[in-house]
Amino acid sequence: RAHAPVVVAIDGPSGSGKSTVSRAVAARLGLSFLDTGAMYRAMTWWMLSNDIDVDDAEAVAIACGKPVIVSGTDAAGPTITVDGQDVSGPIRGPEVTAKVSAVSAVPAVRARLVELQRGCAEVAPRGIVAEGRDMGTVVFPGATAKVFLTASGAARAARRAAELRAKGVDEATIAAMAADLDRRDAADSSRETAPLAQAPDAVLVDTSELTLDQVIDTVAALVEERAQQP
Ligand code: DC
Repeated sequence: RAHAPVVVAIDGPSGSGKSTVSRAVAARLGLSFLDTGAMYRAMTWWMLSNDIDVDDAEAVAIACGKPVIVSGTDAAGPTITVDGQDVSGPIRGPEVTAKVSAVSAVPAVRARLVELQRGCAEVAPRGIVAEGRDMGTVVFPGATAKVFLTASGAARAARRAAELRAKGVDEATIAAMAADLDRRDAADSSRETAPLAQAPDAVLVDTSELTLDQVIDTVAALVEERAQQP
């Protein structure tokens, strides 16, 4: 593997710390970073903005080839645009969050975004850390290193609540978003196409009792070890 670029596949449920960990590992190792959830969110944002009924899988499948979704993969400042418009703010809003599981369950959406994701890895100069739900199972089955991050439901809910509280979100909204998180995880894990799953060769890291720095150290060490293997 001397000249092949490094691909690090990181999967796990919402609130497992995936995005923060993946981005930090990429920055530390000089790799590109790809948040594939942001791509599903960008697709969902475009559907909602164009009045497409996102609960109509056929309508979603027909329309999903239209938006031009571009991910900037610099770990120091990842970006996402749809038809040239920066959507990094709106894709985190409650409207998109409520509908993203429905859109991401549509096979045509996945086929299109998987192709974009592989393209990002191909052009990454030194390699890429890609995070999502199906990185190790479907998108990059031959990844250099695969990690499945988990955390107890309580730990995940507490982290999400702390994030939202820091942004000044009120407690009723925090409770509603916690319920929505459970619904989304159940939907993402039970869908037919590429459900959230641990690849057989992925290393399981339970982050419930670890600090962020400990998780970053663990994942970075694993990647360095795997990257050196012939
Ligand atoms: O990681 P996130 O919460 O931003 O992801 C948003 C949604 O996108 C999530 O509910 C499931 C979906 N998703 C997916 O189906 N496959 C991926 N590789 C990444 C995200």
